[in-house]
Formats: sequence, C-alpha cells, structure tokens
Amino acid sequence: MKDQDGAMNTPEPTDEAGVESIDVGGGRRIEIRPMSADDGEALCEFYEQQSLDDLRRRFFRVYKPQLSWCREWASVGERGGHGVLAIVHEGDLSTVVAEAGYAMRPDGDGDVAVIVAKRWRGWLGPYLIDVLARHAAARGVNNLQADVMLENRPMLAVLRHRGAVSYGHDDGVVRLTIGTTGYLPSWPPKAEGRKLLVATASGRWSGEHAADAAGCVTAVCSGPKRRQRGGCPVLEGGHCPLADQADAIIVLLDPDDEQTDRLVELHREHRPGVPIFVSHRPDGRAEAVTDCVEISAHGDESVAHVLSVIGTAPALP
Ligand SMILES: CC(C)(COP(=O)(O)OP(=O)(O)OC[C@H]1O[C@@H](n2cnc3c(N)ncnc32)[C@H](O)[C@@H]1OP(=O)(O)O)[C@@H](O)C(=O)NCCC(=O)NCCS
Repeated sequence: MKDQDGAMNTPEPTDEAGVESIDVGGGRRIEIRPMSADDGEALCEFYEQQSLDDLRRRFFRVYKPQLSWCREWASVGERGGHGVLAIVHEGDLSTVVAEAGYAMRPDGDGDVAVIVAKRWRGWLGPYLIDVLARHAAARGVNNLQADVMLENRPMLAVLRHRGAVSYGHDDGVVRLTIGTTGYLPSWPPKAEGRKLLVATASGRWSGEHAADAAGCVTAVCSGPKRRQRGGCPVLEGGHCPLADQADAIIVLLDPDDEQTDRLVELHREHRPGVPIFVSHRPDGRAEAVTDCVEISAHGDESVAHVLSVIGTAPALP
C-alpha cells in the first residue's frame, strides 16, 4: 500500500480487538479500529470537516448528521454490522480521517458506506472496503451492497475492482453488490422472488424496473469483456455463484461474438433445465444456441416474455 507521499508501507497485523496500525511515514501512523457509540462525537466532528459534495455522495443529499445519528451509526456493530474509524496519530495529535461500515440488510447481505478525507485518498477507500469485507466474510456475510451515485466515479471504480454486479438503477443511483469471500458476489441469502441474471455490456438492462415491479431480483453483470481483473469465471472453467442459483439467465452480449456462444453453452451445461434467453439474431443464425429462447423485446415486454417462460412464483427449495 502507498502513503500519501507514495512510500510503501506494510500494516501491522490486526490485533484481537480488530485494531490495525499502518506506518505512513513522517512519524505518523494510521490506526484502523472498530467504532462504538462513544465515537459519536468524533464522527460528528469528522463529518463537519468534509465538503458538502462528499457528504452528498455519502448520504445522497446535503446532510450534516446530528450527534444522535452519529452515535447510532457508530454503534452499528451492536446490531450485527461493523464500523471502523481510520485515525491518523502524529505526536500527541489524533485525527479521524475516514469512516466505513456496513449494516445488516433484511435480505442477509451487508449495506456498506465509506468516506475518506480528501487528503488521505488514493488507497484508503479500497483498503477500508477490504477490512469490512474480511470482517463480513468471517461472520458469514457473503456480500456487501452499496448504493452509489452514477456520478461517483471513485466509488464505482473501487467496487468494480472488486467484481461488482448491479442490482438496478434508480434516480441517478446504482445498487452494486460485491462478494466478500471471492471475486464474485452471490444472491442475498434471504432474497425473495425469481432470480434473473442478465449479462449485458452496458451493465444496465431495460427490463430492470419491470422485473423489480414483478417481484424479481435482477443481477446485471457487464459480461466477460467489461469485467475488470477477474474476468468471467464461467469462461475460465469455473462457476458463477449467481448463475448457479438463477431462475433464468439472460445473455444480451454481442450475438456475433464467439465468446457469447461459448458462455451460453457453458451455462446450459452447468444449469440444464434453466431457461436461457439470448439476444435476437438478425441473420437468424441460431445453430449454436439451440434450446435457448430468443428475446427480441425490450423493457416491460422482455420481462413479460421471461416470466411467461419461467412463471412468477419462486421454485420451492
Ligand atoms: C469513494 C472514496 C471512499 C474512495 O476512496 P479513495 O481512497 O479516494 O479511493 P481511491 O482513490 O484509492 O480509489 C479510486 C481509485 O483507485 C483505483 N482502485 C480502487 N480499487 C483498486 C484496486 N483494488 N486495485 C487497483 N486500483 C484500485 C480506482 O481505479 C481509482 O483510480 P483512479 O481514480 O486513480 O483512476 C472517496 O473518494 C470518498 O470518500 N468520497 C466521498 C464519499 C463517497 O463518495 N463515499 C461513497 C458513498 S457510497
């Protein structure tokens, strides 16, 4: 990891209380430790120092949290989640420079949020997400979800580097999910409704809202070419935890790309009997995708088409 001056440092191992210490040079060290209700005031002071734009990205409106809110968030660990503060110690001076945490969601995943003071950006955000992911994984929380403003490029980049998949868009905000135990997320353990996995290079499906209104859970993956770092595990001989539990797989990737045919074939092999929908082929070339359903409609109609094939009720366990 690099400090703000570009020097490399190695963190000291986390102690039993979950405290980590990182030498960042110049006689300073960053302590990353769990937060509790007693940190409410320190958290309030930290938010006071942040720009209105950063607070808007963190809270989705220009909002300076009150002490009661800060105490509540700082004690998220008492309600099954986990929160951490990053504190820079320099001589006698201690300054909070970041906070990050996840709260438990009704669907069994964690809901993650983070904010890093400008001066300490460049590595600390992803580092704190890693700290939370490790904590969540150790407690059996397999995924962390986050609502992120579409304009928030740094946060989108942080999550995409961790293999994020989208659960849909709403009013300039995308809900992303990352896995805590592997490169890919899995479905939330208590997710209700039909599970639709959509692969589309844009990362956005025109049927998202209609599927949501029909009670489906839709995960949208941007496909092998757009995915950073880990690529597509299915094409690399492995399995995708989302595909393995999906009620339908909708592949809207380039129909003229051989990789798309290979992906469809592998999904058929791994999930016999699970309907696979593929993009409409204008030239009628369908030999490589036999037993797949061609989907040519968009938006509400495509969802109606999918549900007419798989039914609306979730399969019994
Ligand atoms: C979002 C935020 C926490 C990110 O923290 P950060 O320390 O600034 O993160 P970084 O700058 O290290 O991450 C973004 C960059 O790291 C890169 N990156 C992230 N994870 C990476 C990884 N594992 N490996 C390599 N690069 C990585 C990204 O590509 C991006 O690079 P670039 O901006 O130089 O092109 C921080 O910008 C912030 O506090 N913003 C305001 C509040 C906010 O938006 N919170 C999120 C609410 S959901």
